[in-house]
Amino acid sequence: MFIVTGANGQLGRLIVHALAARVSPGQIGVSVRDVAKAADLAALGVRVRHGDFAEPESLGHAFEGARRVLIVSSNARAYGGDSRAQHRAALDAARDAGAERVLYTSHMAASATSAFPPMHDHAATEAMLAGSGMKWTSLRHGFYASSGLAMARQATHDDVITIPADGVVSWTTHGDLAEAAAAILAGEHTFEGPTPPLTGSEALSLADLATIRADTAQTSVRHDVISDAQYRERLAARGLPPHVAAIAYGFFLASRAGEFARVDGELASILGRAPTRVRTLIAPS
Ligand SMILES: NC(=O)c1ccc[n+]([C@@H]2O[C@H](COP(=O)([O-])OP(=O)(O)OC[C@H]3O[C@@H](n4cnc5c(N)ncnc54)[C@H](OP(=O)(O)O)[C@@H]3O)[C@@H](O)[C@H]2O)c1
Repeated sequence: MFIVTGANGQLGRLIVHALAARVSPGQIGVSVRDVAKAADLAALGVRVRHGDFAEPESLGHAFEGARRVLIVSSNARAYGGDSRAQHRAALDAARDAGAERVLYTSHMAASATSAFPPMHDHAATEAMLAGSGMKWTSLRHGFYASSGLAMARQATHDDVITIPADGVVSWTTHGDLAEAAAAILAGEHTFEGPTPPLTGSEALSLADLATIRADTAQTSVRHDVISDAQYRERLAARGLPPHVAAIAYGFFLASRAGEFARVDGELASILGRAPTRVRTLIAPS
């Protein structure tokens, strides 16, 4: 069976639908925290079982019969949790279920030395994969376009985007990444270890995104660059917990250092078409 975790989330759900277009739904099992939310997947003929990385004992049943497992990375860090321990539990469960290959949704900037804290978890998880004894593929995803649009929107008030210096990012859509993940999971393409960066086809800054949004709405936007110290003060004033502030601030440090800038052709090659441009996600308002 093909097991997909996180199937009630944005990416996981899209992966299941893309996979169901390639293999029989009866060959797909999902591991979700809330089985009721996956009723539509059960109606497709997908096996739906409860599995929570934070409750490792739940995963044996959820992963039963696994031949290939796709682990959607946990976002536990953003909530003060331990993403690495959760990924370890998922990997152990995949191995115990007899899986021959594990796929994991990593990031193009996965590194222990990244300025963006979530990248440390991806690097640590890739090291766990390398030591797991299973064949593994780390899907090195580009930065989500939806995250960029949300950041640009949040930083824009009264037609001014106010942010510290950033860098360009090869924003990538959930839909394209899900399509590629399903193709790789189904065995249409094989990667041993990390894939090349799976990215969109253009690299844009947050101000570029704000400008595209403004153009779409037939308005204009001004770009005000604030210092890192001013930005950190603003994060503190919003009362964000330190681990959340570190992620928000880290984005600017890492993008400025070019960690998310690379545009690579591998995603287009897997999809057999150009990746979706971020501007097509912006509806006129
Ligand atoms: N490439 C990027 O730029 C980027 C940006 C942001 C995040 N990410 C990573 O990509 C992942 C998928 O993104 P997304 O947009 O699909 O996020 P999402 O909609 O929040 O989905 C995350 C999924 O992870 C599941 N999950 C969380 N904790 C879990 C646990 N303890 N055990 C099992 N499953 C758990 C959630 O389950 P429930 O449905 O039960 O909540 C959800 O289905 C995120 O979790 C994050 O690690 C990547």
